[in-house]
Formats: sequence, structure tokens, C-alpha cells
Amino acid sequence: MKTTLFPVRKLSLAALLMGGLGLLSSQRPAPEKTLKEAYKNYFPIGVAVGAQQLKGAEAELIKQQFNSVTPENAMKMGPIHPEENRYFWTDADAIVDFAQQNKLRVRGHNLLWHEQTPKWLFKDAEGKQVSKEVLLKRLHDHIFTVVKRYKGKIYAWDVVNEAISDNPNEFLRDSEWYKICGEDFIAKAFEYAHEADPKAILFYNDYNTERPEKRERVYKLLKKLKDAKVPIDAVGLQGHWSLQEPTEAELRKAIEQYSSLGLKVQITELDVSIYPWEKERRERRPGESDAYTPELEQKQAEQYKMFFRVFRDYKNVMTGVTFWNVSDQYSWLDTYPVAGRKNYPLLFDQNLKPKKAYQEVVKF
Ligand code: GLA
Repeated sequence: MKTTLFPVRKLSLAALLMGGLGLLSSQRPAPEKTLKEAYKNYFPIGVAVGAQQLKGAEAELIKQQFNSVTPENAMKMGPIHPEENRYFWTDADAIVDFAQQNKLRVRGHNLLWHEQTPKWLFKDAEGKQVSKEVLLKRLHDHIFTVVKRYKGKIYAWDVVNEAISDNPNEFLRDSEWYKICGEDFIAKAFEYAHEADPKAILFYNDYNTERPEKRERVYKLLKKLKDAKVPIDAVGLQGHWSLQEPTEAELRKAIEQYSSLGLKVQITELDVSIYPWEKERRERRPGESDAYTPELEQKQAEQYKMFFRVFRDYKNVMTGVTFWNVSDQYSWLDTYPVAGRKNYPLLFDQNLKPKKAYQEVVKF
């Protein structure tokens, strides 16, 4: 039996959505299935959200299409733990409550990162750098407080985010964490998280994990952790990809190499930029186009189609795919790395209508 996007018994909801989403008024035929229906025998389909998106048309789209959410920023250490003795729970709680009410899974993101850290974290009261012992104690207390609060409600945590250096000649990133603790902070973070919630699935999460040189360094770290019996369960490939990369062979190789360690794999922050990868922030250049041409839309649809074909092929190790933001209405790529240059990286357009890429993802 075919499942239509809006079964008759949900007509009132459909009518409500028509205005906001315009799905039925689209010139393209309505897609047969929602994302979560299409992938129900494969893996959950998630989306990164902020507390402000839990109402109105965006919330309806989230509930209709996805069965997992990741807080985009609300659980990062800076926002959730702004002072040593003060946590800010409002936004994170709102996301977890919304997920519980709507039977969505939650991926926690993240417990340790070099960015979006609170000001107090690496300094003592006199403004001097803290010792390794003090920093690990702070990490322990942070992880225990946050993970225990959401125990049983958050099924997976990105424990350590982006610890590998951007410099191919270095191994670990020269972050404050590394400067103060050496390599130990990584294993410690996993141990604390496991102690706080032994059932949570614990991830190492990073970007450019399919590029051969970075893949080898990520693999080396994961192997070290596994060999040392650190409680790590899975690897998150962020999936901040583009029309240029990764190739199908690179993607397959990465999934195979990481999963050969006995780790599960998720795509945790998927978006497909219409521009080639850049890292350094800059202003948009005079005359630099940010037009979303039919050619770009077509190329993007083909990339998405290939990516999801590969994900389905690895359904035995692939335990989730999460998009980084809901629609082209808003993406972090609108301002990063180039200020003032619009991007169109997602499956829903600026009116929340499904794009060509969406059709390619749900039809197989
Ligand atoms: C990294 C982080 C995410 C997010 C993106 C940009 O990938 O893991 O939390 O900050 O950068 O939005």
C-alpha cells in the first residue's frame, strides 16, 4: 500500500500545513513518503534544532519528517554552563521536552569541544591558566551534571568534538584542552560520560573524516581509544559536504575503515554546500555570485542521491543520519565561512518546500 504524505485522516493538519509549507501547491508532484517513513527500516533521520524552532511551520515540518533531533547549540558548554556555578537549562530542556512529547530521539551535542567554551573554563580566579587536575575536575563535574540530567532521555552523546588537528602534519589539535591536559582529556571525557550514563551511546565526532589524510589520523585516534578499552561506541562523520566532495569511493572507504574497529557510524551534521570547502572566514568578494541555479540544484540532488545510496548499503553499521538545520531558510553556512553569501545546503527550500534533492533521497 502506498503511503501518501497527507493521509485523509490528517487532512486538517494538511490544510494547516499547506499555507506554511506549501507542499501541495508545489509544481513538483508531492513526494510519496516522508524522510522518516522512507528510512524506517534503515536508521533514524535527525535534524539540528534551536529552541526557537519548536513552534509554527518549522515545528510541524520537524514532526512530520524527522524522528530524531540534535540541539544545534543549546547543549554546548558555553551556552549550557556559562559560569562555573551556574547552568542555563531553559533551551536544552525545551528541546528535550519537545522531543519527548513528539517521540523523537535526542542526540546530545556536545560534551567537549575547543569552540563555544565558557570564559571561566580554562582560567582560575586570578585569570591564570588552571592545572590539568583542575581542568579534568571541571570536565568531570560538567559531564556528570549534564549527562545525568538527561539520563534516559538522550540516547547518544557526541562526547569529544573535533580533537584532530587541521594541519596534516600534526595529530591532535593544539587546543586549550590539549595544551593543559595533553592527550588524556579525550579518554577521560569518555570515561566520565560512561560513568554518568552507562546506557548512552558515546561518539567521537569530526569533519572532513573522508579526506584520506585526515581519515588516517581519525582512525589512529579511534584505534588508540579502542585498544586502551576507552568506552567509545561510535564515530560521527559530521557530513559538512559539498558538490565536490566526498567522492563515493572516499565515503565508502571511511565508513568501512572506521567500522572495522567495531564502531557504529552516524552522519551527524549533514549539509551539502553549493560552494567548495573553505575554512578561514572572509567577506564575500565584489561580484561573487550566490545564485542557486538549476544546474547547482540538479548537481546537489545527484550528490544527495549518491550519499543516501551509500548510507543504505551500510545499514548494518549506520545508525543514524542527522541534517544540520531544517531548511534553506536558515543554515550556519549562510554566514560561514563567507559573510553575506547565501547557501542552499538542505532538502527543504526557503519556503519549507521539498527540493529536488528531497525527491532523490526518498525514492529508491
Ligand atoms: C561543527 C560543530 C557543530 C556546529 C557546526 C557549525 O560542525 O560540531 O556543533 O557548530 O560546526 O554550525
